[in-house]
Amino acid sequence: MKVAVLGAAGGIGQALSLLLKTQLPAGSELALYDVAPVVPGVAVDLSHIPTAVAVTGHGKDDLADALTGCDIVLIPAGVPRKPGMDRSDLFNINAGIVKNLINGVADHCPTACVGIITNPVNTTVAIAAEALKAKGVYDKNKLFGVTTLDVIRSEAFVAELKGLDVAKTHVPVIGGHSGTTILPLLSQVEGVSFTDEEIASLTTRIQNAGTEVVEAKAGGGSATLSMGQAAARFCLSLVAAMQGADVVEYTYVQVDGSDDAEFFAHPVRLGKNGVTEILSYGELSAFEEKAKADMLDGLRSDIQLGVDFVNA
Ligand code: 2OP
Repeated sequence: MKVAVLGAAGGIGQALSLLLKTQLPAGSELALYDVAPVVPGVAVDLSHIPTAVAVTGHGKDDLADALTGCDIVLIPAGVPRKPGMDRSDLFNINAGIVKNLINGVADHCPTACVGIITNPVNTTVAIAAEALKAKGVYDKNKLFGVTTLDVIRSEAFVAELKGLDVAKTHVPVIGGHSGTTILPLLSQVEGVSFTDEEIASLTTRIQNAGTEVVEAKAGGGSATLSMGQAAARFCLSLVAAMQGADVVEYTYVQVDGSDDAEFFAHPVRLGKNGVTEILSYGELSAFEEKAKADMLDGLRSDIQLGVDFVNA
């Protein structure tokens, strides 16, 4: 298994790379790419950890080597939010970064599974899809927006509020990865009930959790450690699925024939070639139905922005 992290020297990239160095199966290769000159140093640093995962560092002119032979590419590259910013405020810088990196994927590892972490995810996934289509190598089963952070945050917050064992707490989260497009399905959490007030306040907290971190870091960026953990969980699930395990994760994927939006986070069964089945997210409560109806126009226009960016 060869995994590349593009943007490996940033806050998310370093946390993610550390987790992958210690948790990828023995014999894996981990290729770290970044435009920041520190990236060979990050690779040397990680290489001193005694696991059977080979780490290589690749600077800005070395994208081809980082990507050649990859099975999975994870993209956290780009700039993070500062207080007062919405994820969509990152569009102008991050859209071009994602498009360039995806062109590299198309040229050097067109059959790899790609996990997009760079914000605004609602839009950058559409950019990646259009860029891959323009190169004639798009496979909708191999492109993912990583929304796992919304899931792990929900699990942490629900377990904390209800005094549950967090390891056994599972919270489905559908939709997108920004504000009200993040839709936790609290009605489906097993073994626990919530008051209407709890549902309203927990939903808002989950939707604003990224902003909670941005404000707490006070200008020092957005979530890096929890995002690294979330992306590592997603990547390790994909690795396990590619090696034959039956794995389901919630992730933002292209959903054909959906009444929701062209891209929408669903429970997805993963396999050797990425998505094997997009599962139904089941019954929603009246609160969740309304929250979904209210956010769909915004999510659809986030997606259209990405389509237009590539095709303009
Ligand atoms: C977050 O939700 C960075 O988008 C990421 O905090």
